[in-house]
Amino acid sequence: MATILDGKNLREKILSDLKNRIESFETKPTLVVILVGENPASKIYVNNKKKVAEKIGINSQIINYPENISEQELIKKINELNENKNVHAILVQLPLPDGISKSNVINAISPEKDVDGFTPYNIGKLFSGEKPKVYPCTPKGILLLLDEYNIELEGKHAVVVGRSGIVGRPMAQMLLDRNATVTICHSHTKNLEKIIKTADILISAVGKNIIKGEMLKPGCVVVDVGIFKDENGKTRGDVDFESSLKVASYISPVPGGVGPMTITSLMLNTVELFMNNS
Ligand code: GUN
Repeated sequence: MATILDGKNLREKILSDLKNRIESFETKPTLVVILVGENPASKIYVNNKKKVAEKIGINSQIINYPENISEQELIKKINELNENKNVHAILVQLPLPDGISKSNVINAISPEKDVDGFTPYNIGKLFSGEKPKVYPCTPKGILLLLDEYNIELEGKHAVVVGRSGIVGRPMAQMLLDRNATVTICHSHTKNLEKIIKTADILISAVGKNIIKGEMLKPGCVVVDVGIFKDENGKTRGDVDFESSLKVASYISPVPGGVGPMTITSLMLNTVELFMNNS
């Protein structure tokens, strides 16, 4: 029976330490979150970020623009926030509405305030094997979770399913930096099942229930980044939990695994940027 990778428990531990640290600061870190439009999932994520930030003493502000804001106006606001010494961290919630260029908007964020680690400077540092100002939140949270359970990465075959800029790509790079042997799979991958069968560490970030217990190598460590509602309204991940529990050595549940760690990393990154720039 696999051990559960408990993200909620680790979140509480890290946030309680962080809250104590923040209490000792004379000025408080400030995180500004920009939300464009009315995407219901994004609204929930953004409100959750604010709630957690406030709980641990980080000032946070949500700026909600209507869907029809121009790219130019959005970039003007980001420039203003870049100049504002009282703002330490800027996050633009993705996805952005059609007609606004994600790369133009993200590129406008100062790398010193780029709390997601998504700007070309920070991504470039990460992919050239150097240290970015901060690491992207979801992969960072996954590594914190694996480290908490002392899971060895060096020399292991890590298979990352999904190649998004938010999870799959930076995750693969960060695993490589930890001396894992990394394979990235995606929608065009041939023999996906064969590759999954060879994974010592499996990270799935697809958003579809594609992985069953019998596909896993016995003793595999399974990290499930997918989260969606099935046809009955039940929250699910990419991995069939019940059948995988019997084969894996460790498995992250959905919900309660990776999700809490992403928000924890966001808080850690906010404090890191604050420490570096105040
Ligand atoms: N949308 C889904 N995940 C993320 C994230 O980690 N950062 C931002 N900015 N938007 C997201």
